[in-house]
Amino acid sequence: MYRMGDERVHALRGVSFVVRENEFVSIMGPSGSGKSTLLQILGCLDRPTTGDLVLDGLIIGRASDNQLAEIRNRKIGFVFQKFNLLAKATALENVALPLIYSGLTPRARRKKAEYALETVGLYERSAHRPNEMSGGQRQRVAIARALVTEPSFILADEPTGNLDTKTGEQIMELFSQLHQQGNTLVLVTHEPEVAEQTQRIIMIRDGLIQADGKPLEVLSA
Ligand SMILES: Nc1ncnc2c1ncn2[C@@H]1O[C@H](COP(=O)(O)OP(=O)(O)OP(=O)(O)O)[C@@H](O)[C@H]1O
Ligand SMILES: [Mg+2]
Repeated sequence: MYRMGDERVHALRGVSFVVRENEFVSIMGPSGSGKSTLLQILGCLDRPTTGDLVLDGLIIGRASDNQLAEIRNRKIGFVFQKFNLLAKATALENVALPLIYSGLTPRARRKKAEYALETVGLYERSAHRPNEMSGGQRQRVAIARALVTEPSFILADEPTGNLDTKTGEQIMELFSQLHQQGNTLVLVTHEPEVAEQTQRIIMIRDGLIQADGKPLEVLSA
C-alpha cells in the first residue's frame, strides 16, 4: 500500500506465489497493475504493508535493514525501469559501485566491472557517462551493474523496453545464458515475444494475479 496524502493506493492485494530456484519467470500486465511494486518487493527494495516475502527460507519481514542490505548485495541483482545510473560517473564507475563494500581492492573491482561491461557488449564505452550513451546502452550499463556482484537472483523491470529489436534480443540471450548457468530470473515485460522466452508468465491486473502458467497457455488465454 502506498500513501498519497490521505489517499491509500493498494498496488497489490492478495498476491501469493512461489518462485523456485533456477526458474525463469516473466511478469506481465497493464500499466499501473503493480508489476514494478511486486518486483521491488521481490528484490527486497520494499517491504509489503501486509503479507511477507520468504527468500531462501529467510522471512524478510523479520529481517533488519542491515540484513536486507546484505541480502540485496550478496544475492540480488536489480535492473531498474528507469536505470538509476549516476549521471556524473562513467559507465565503469557506475558498474563498479555495488562492489564498494565487497572488500575487493580497487583494481579487482575495476576488473570485475570491466568484465561485466564486456558481457553486455559495452567494454569500449567504459569511460562514457550516461548522457553520452543511447537509451539502449544505458540500459545495458544498468544490467552490467546488476550482474557485477554475481547475484543468483536477477530481477529486471522492462529490461528490453528501451531497446531496439536486435539489442533486445541480445539482452534476452544474455538472460537465457544466466538462466542456463543456474540463476533465478524474474523480469517484467510488456512484450509477448520476450515473455514467450521465459518458462512461466505471471499475469497481473489491478494488483491481483490473473493468470500464472506456461507462456503459451497464458498468452493464448
Ligand atoms: N511511490 C508511489 N506512491 C504512490 N503510489 C504509487 C507509488 N508507486 C506506484 N504507485 C501506484 O501503485 C500502482 C502500481 O504501480 P506500479 O508502478 O507497480 O505499476 P506497473 O505495473 O509497474 O506500471 P508500468 O507498466 O506503467 O510500469 C499504480 O496505481 C501506481 O500509481
Ligand atoms: Mg513499472
